[in-house]
Amino acid sequence: MLDQLQALPADPLLGLITAYNEDTNPDKVDLGVGVYRDESGHTPIMKAIHLAAEKHLQSEDSKTYIAPVGVPGFVSGIKSLVMDGTSALKDNRIAAVQAPGGCGALRVGAELLNRLKDDITLWVSDPTWANHIPLISSAGIKIKTYPYFDPATNAVNYDAMDKQLAELGSNDIVLLHGCCHNPTGADLSFENWQSIAQRANKQGFVPFVDIAYQGLGDGIEEDVKGVRYLSENVDEMLIASSCSKSFGLYRERTGCLMIQNKTVENARAIQTQIQDIARAIYSMSPAYGGYLVDLVLNTPDLRQMWETELAEMATRVKSLREGLVSHIQAAGIDRDFSFITQQKGMFSFLGISKDQVDQMRKDFSIYMAGSSRINVAGLNTNTLEYVANALKSVL
Ligand code: LMR
Repeated sequence: MLDQLQALPADPLLGLITAYNEDTNPDKVDLGVGVYRDESGHTPIMKAIHLAAEKHLQSEDSKTYIAPVGVPGFVSGIKSLVMDGTSALKDNRIAAVQAPGGCGALRVGAELLNRLKDDITLWVSDPTWANHIPLISSAGIKIKTYPYFDPATNAVNYDAMDKQLAELGSNDIVLLHGCCHNPTGADLSFENWQSIAQRANKQGFVPFVDIAYQGLGDGIEEDVKGVRYLSENVDEMLIASSCSKSFGLYRERTGCLMIQNKTVENARAIQTQIQDIARAIYSMSPAYGGYLVDLVLNTPDLRQMWETELAEMATRVKSLREGLVSHIQAAGIDRDFSFITQQKGMFSFLGISKDQVDQMRKDFSIYMAGSSRINVAGLNTNTLEYVANALKSVL
């Protein structure tokens, strides 16, 4: 029976890890999968997480199941981290569950949409993170794209996006990147968030925010300004938050799904629905990452340490953005790449063709996604010149 199924190609992003590891060129540069790296190319365990892990090891005395909601201090900590100051949080209108990573949170959210009687369409930005589409569509949700990134300006084309949003209705869900848009690095402005809130109210669509890089753009609070504005100005929304990048917990699969409801009664009903969905797919989320984040967020000295380290990571990525642009200029490339310094978070689109991406890999062992998305955090002061010269050569 099983021999009916054919082998599939490697995942476009995860396949890059294997290809890079197998490359023997000592000058190879990994700008592929989106993980934070330090100057030596290492993805470190954040200091606060390390201390939380030691603390947790000393205090954990059982491995029995946790509650269906997840680790309570984790769930309440993430709710505040993302939604602090909003009426929805104060009024207990947010249902939430811990989930296996941001992907798990997105998937439980998609399964919830699939339980609605309406014929739902979920709209994603063009382009969006490569895994959004398989992750959400395999829950049975129809997906369409709205215009987002304009390669001519390397920025958001909000007029085109708004034109599409103006045609949506109450069976539509709009997936938005809370900050640090993946893959383009081009973020919505605060005015754009205000306009989206107006549109959502007028057209009746519901926003679904994916926030996977809080703190890696302009700061922990600044990065959720748009999301909090939206929360304050619409009745309902879904939010998937990931701890992979902001807490460096990639492999621990730590995320949280939050659903903002009109009333506390609705929130109680939705709480039972999302727990039921989780139970039917994977029973309950892995607990470990949740315990660590709970300790970090709710222990003042660990929290301070985490905030400082996250800010240092964001600063490092910003300075790599500036470094890359100045090396590109120094290499004498006759094309304006200064947009890289205006973009946020770990990614930027170089805006080169698929053939040029392949050539960067074949001739220089520089790995990036086929779309020409680079993980800026994969650069370091020693590779900036090499990458800029390689770019000159393929251009
Ligand atoms: C990325 O976009 O590279 C990361 O989010 C890793 C992944 O799972 O794709």
